Amino acid sequence: MGKIYNWAILGAGSIAQKFASDLKLLQNANLYAVGSRSTKRAKEFASRFGIEKAYGSYEELVRDKKIDIVYIATYHVQHYPNTILCLNNGKAVLCEKPVAMNKDQCSAMLETAREKKLFFMEALWTSFIPSFRKCKELVDSGAIGKILLIESDFCFKAYYDKEGRLFNPKLGGGSLLDIGIYPVFFALEFAGAPLAIEAFAAYGETKVDESCSILLKHTNDILSVLFCSIVTSGRTEAILHGTRGRIRVNREWHIPSSVDLLPESGKPVHYDFNEPGFGYQYEAEEVMICIEKGFKESPVFGWQKSLNLISTLDSIRAKCGIRYPGEVESL
Ligand SMILES: NC(=O)c1ccc[n+]([C@@H]2O[C@H](COP(=O)([O-])OP(=O)(O)OC[C@H]3O[C@@H](n4cnc5c(N)ncnc54)[C@H](OP(=O)(O)O)[C@@H]3O)[C@@H](O)[C@H]2O)c1
Repeated sequence: MGKIYNWAILGAGSIAQKFASDLKLLQNANLYAVGSRSTKRAKEFASRFGIEKAYGSYEELVRDKKIDIVYIATYHVQHYPNTILCLNNGKAVLCEKPVAMNKDQCSAMLETAREKKLFFMEALWTSFIPSFRKCKELVDSGAIGKILLIESDFCFKAYYDKEGRLFNPKLGGGSLLDIGIYPVFFALEFAGAPLAIEAFAAYGETKVDESCSILLKHTNDILSVLFCSIVTSGRTEAILHGTRGRIRVNREWHIPSSVDLLPESGKPVHYDFNEPGFGYQYEAEEVMICIEKGFKESPVFGWQKSLNLISTLDSIRAKCGIRYPGEVESL
């Protein structure tokens, strides 16, 4: 076996727990440290997942020379400062989505990774899960011909808490950045960065976008119809319509799910995937494979993809007026 990588998790919240559990599935990953703003929370998290080091601050964590890779699992608004902190302390970074609040922040993060010669990747985990890979493979094999239309949504009824991260603008709340990012990612993966965008948002009492509808026009006349919501449930499916049939990534398409190939002629084919864990192990595996090869970015979900994604989100926000405190100028 090759090198065993010492991982650290920054922010002991909800997604951090799922990631910690999946990391245990990888033989060359050692979940070595956790950092929280609270020592108590760090210790509880560490004891739950058998982690050697529990740090009561992010600054303390990054000073630990034994850490190879930090997984950043804090709120959107902290991804930028937390990533810079880690990179400046010599750590490779896997940072939760959205990678930043806007393109300017993302560019600065990538510039720092480049300067420090360190690996950096946005945790766009869907890129690496077997159901999504199957969808890619089917498209590449020409199973549905040329793509004409893309349809995707991500909707769920979130617990309403004005102060919580989903409804609080100060914490980067709203549907687009939290879950709308997935349908936008899907469209960009299959049709590239858009040439034109139309978008509308519906705002709630706390002034965050509770729902968002998006139309994209890509090269070769490919069109995308996308929407997201944190106030109503939805199908959460992704469908590619081609000249010779359709591919549907079934509910909930962004997590390990099933895929249906629905050709215009011939029998439909159903693909099921019964893999262990939540599905976060695949992105973690990618990070270690890349570092092993000396890569600074992933050939599957690299820096340009993060830039295209956040730039598209910026443009959608500009179209429908989604603003966050303190960053109006940068849009
Ligand atoms: N990939 C996925 O499937 C997926 C799923 C859900 C969420 N996410 C992403 O992961 C990130 C975290 O989401 P989550 O659902 O895990 O959130 P969460 O459970 O609320 O946890 C986020 C953590 O951020 C830290 N934090 C730092 N500053 C904070 C502040 N001022 N107020 C509150 N917490 C603060 C806290 O860690 P400490 O207090 O321990 O320091 C908190 O536990 C988001 O960016 C989200 O988009 C990804």
